[in-house]
Amino acid sequence: METVVSGIRSTGNLHLGNYFGALKNFVKMQYENRCFFFIADYHALTTHPTAENIKTNARQVIIEYLAAGLDPEIATLYLQSDVPEVLELYLFLNMNAYLGELQRCTSFKDKVRQQPENVNAGLLTYPTLMAADILIHKAHKVPVGKDQEQHLEMTRMFASRFNRLYKTDYFTEPQAYNFGENLIKIPGLDGSMKMGKSEGNAIYLIDSPEIIRKKVMKAKTDAGPTQPNQTKSQEIQNLFTIMQQVSDKNTLHFFEQAYADTSIRYGDFKKQLADDIIAFCNPLRERILDLSEKNSYIDEVIEHGAEKARQNARNTISEIREIIGFRK
Ligand code: TYM
Repeated sequence: METVVSGIRSTGNLHLGNYFGALKNFVKMQYENRCFFFIADYHALTTHPTAENIKTNARQVIIEYLAAGLDPEIATLYLQSDVPEVLELYLFLNMNAYLGELQRCTSFKDKVRQQPENVNAGLLTYPTLMAADILIHKAHKVPVGKDQEQHLEMTRMFASRFNRLYKTDYFTEPQAYNFGENLIKIPGLDGSMKMGKSEGNAIYLIDSPEIIRKKVMKAKTDAGPTQPNQTKSQEIQNLFTIMQQVSDKNTLHFFEQAYADTSIRYGDFKKQLADDIIAFCNPLRERILDLSEKNSYIDEVIEHGAEKARQNARNTISEIREIIGFRK
């Protein structure tokens, strides 16, 4: 049986990008693999959240994992900060990660641009912490969206370097995973290539129908096709990409045809897209609201997950300590 590890940063509510890039695959994978799904609350520290935010955000993501259909009796759901063994592995991997390669990482360069006043060492070593998350459970597969591909490549590099340095074959090289052929990237509603929380262009699973409708109706479009089979602008392509995930094939085909023969009316197109996103989000939203009331159940899930994840991490760390030359 293969081991699967993945996580989502605890920066608040999850959006459609998180769902289609990662969470949907978590749910599918849980029955056939040994799965560890966590909330990356150590990673969230790079932006200096308050203690209150740390607590409520991590809980919220656990609730949304459960609402999406993760079963805590089958998969291990836990908070990264409940498994401090990860930090020991992070330290070991950092000794063998180099400044140049960390500085060249795309996500680091993006952060330097986004928060020039707070370029901390945690941001620089974000990829080694992520590698530690994955390698602590000796994962084979890592379900993620396309934006995490480079981090996975770095994880493989750190794993093989460790093996070389200590003349061992301890780590296998984990692969990014998606059930479709390619990793997915859900675009934003503002014409940009990526839906994200920090980009302010996202639809959240918890958004009400009114909010979803408002966001979709406001999404950027263009003046419309003037010639048959015209190439789509980025903003129109983005809306079609989202439709591909939430609408049925006939609906998608209908609007593709209408675009191709120039008869498309963007008002109708957006209205249909909003309806389909609402139909998709509504059941999730209801389960999220329902689970939000069940405080002691959520506590139990977190406690149970921490124990299971920690047990496995302890075994790994003790083997790694021995390989490196420390007492077990
Ligand atoms: P994060 O929290 O930014 O995103 C969580 C997951 O959602 C995916 N995702 C998207 N997929 C498609 N389209 C989008 N617009 C989109 N936005 C987000 C991400 O690819 C990711 O799979 N570094 C990670 C968290 C992490 C992690 C790990 C993941 C920490 N340690 C170990 C896997 C394994 C991150 O910041 O993801």
